[in-house]
Amino acid sequence: MNEKTSLARPNTVLARAGFTSGFGVLAATLGSAVGLGNIWKFPYLTGANGGASFLLVYVLATLLVGLPVMMAEISLGRVGKANPISTLQALAPKGQPWWLIGVAGMLGAFLILSFYSEVVAWVFAYVVKAMRGSILSSDPQVTGAAFNALISDPMQSLLWQWGVLLFIGGILLMGVTKGIEAVTKKLMPILFLLLLLLCAVSLSLDKAWEGLVFLFHPDFSKITASVVLTAMGLAFFKLSIGMGTMMTYGSYFRDDQNIPLTTLRVMAADLSISMLAGIAIFPAVFTFGFAPTAGPSLVFITIPAVFSQIPMGQSLMVVFFVLAAIAATGAMLSLMEVPVVILHERLGLTRPKATLLTIFLLVILGSTSALSNSTLADFKLFGMTPFDLFDFVSSNIILPGGGIFIALFVGWVWGFDKFGGALTNKGHLQNQKVAQAVFFLLRYVSPALILVVMLKGLNLF
Ligand code: PHE
Repeated sequence: MNEKTSLARPNTVLARAGFTSGFGVLAATLGSAVGLGNIWKFPYLTGANGGASFLLVYVLATLLVGLPVMMAEISLGRVGKANPISTLQALAPKGQPWWLIGVAGMLGAFLILSFYSEVVAWVFAYVVKAMRGSILSSDPQVTGAAFNALISDPMQSLLWQWGVLLFIGGILLMGVTKGIEAVTKKLMPILFLLLLLLCAVSLSLDKAWEGLVFLFHPDFSKITASVVLTAMGLAFFKLSIGMGTMMTYGSYFRDDQNIPLTTLRVMAADLSISMLAGIAIFPAVFTFGFAPTAGPSLVFITIPAVFSQIPMGQSLMVVFFVLAAIAATGAMLSLMEVPVVILHERLGLTRPKATLLTIFLLVILGSTSALSNSTLADFKLFGMTPFDLFDFVSSNIILPGGGIFIALFVGWVWGFDKFGGALTNKGHLQNQKVAQAVFFLLRYVSPALILVVMLKGLNLF
């Protein structure tokens, strides 16, 4: 590690390195993974891509590709102990440009943040709407109209998004990310309980069975190449991998942390939360006559309908969206960490300046996402609005592409000795078999699988 890197360790990394328990590391990693990906993206993609068959492919992608790449990223980060660019530069043989993975990751972070911040904006707006009680209804027309009124209003879309960006920027500038992590850790169990409550309500609805069949009974005819690519992209997005976030987080994993075990736990918890969101939503979708294929609006129009069925539904809905906002904040902070640390350590900007520059760039790029349902609705590139394009390119190209190169780097350049050393803590843990299996996946299976899925899914061959 060069001196500049060690001097310039970002303060959130230092703050998080202060976690003394294995649980702290687990919570921080989970804080990045769990976010709107579970509550918003997973349900709507599952709904739009055929239900159970999509879920099945998503789980397979998580196991065959997601887990190995996540272990690879965390291992590289823990050994490199720096931002992704510096880590890859330090670990690769001189002159080989593996550090470009870090550059692509930074680009990916900007693209994701520019639409993610808009979805967080909707969540924030829904907190206020829920307080006013104006959206609680089981009538698809009513909840749909409320959502459309929000996203098609350019001023509201922009202002809420800028509010979100300022809020997140403020947290970063004040250096209170440690506080946020602590708050997240305490509040996430409440979100979990609320989701359980919603599941119970949803399961008691008339056509709950139809929702469950949709979610769990696969119809294999719905699996196409582009569905597989979407499912794999979701696996990357969900686990925050393929773009350096987990590498950055790995840099503050403790040396005695069990990487495979932590990764497995994060994956299991993350998957459970997504499943709960699915079980809360699909029975209601079928009972009240929503369209499972509604797209990004699905959660925003369905959740109010479920809450409309319970006493104190309005107050509980406020709590739900506040907690969703907090979960999303954790994920956003981890996304921002990538460009902020890179600008800080590589370009020598102070951390506050790096943060301000990141926020500034996001205000500009993000505005195009914010206006994608109003002013810019007809402005399409490759047939997609900026919002959809940023989502598509990040999840279906940048993250899996990053995954290929991370897998290849570990499998063919870094080598088994070093990777195995990271997974077994230099032989202290009984993870040899796991290390061998994961290494095999990284060397041969994951890169080939990702490549084929990408080429087929993008219709390139
Ligand atoms: N995993 C986060 C979510 O599901 C999103 C994310 C993607 C965060 C990539 C960091 C990096 O909401």
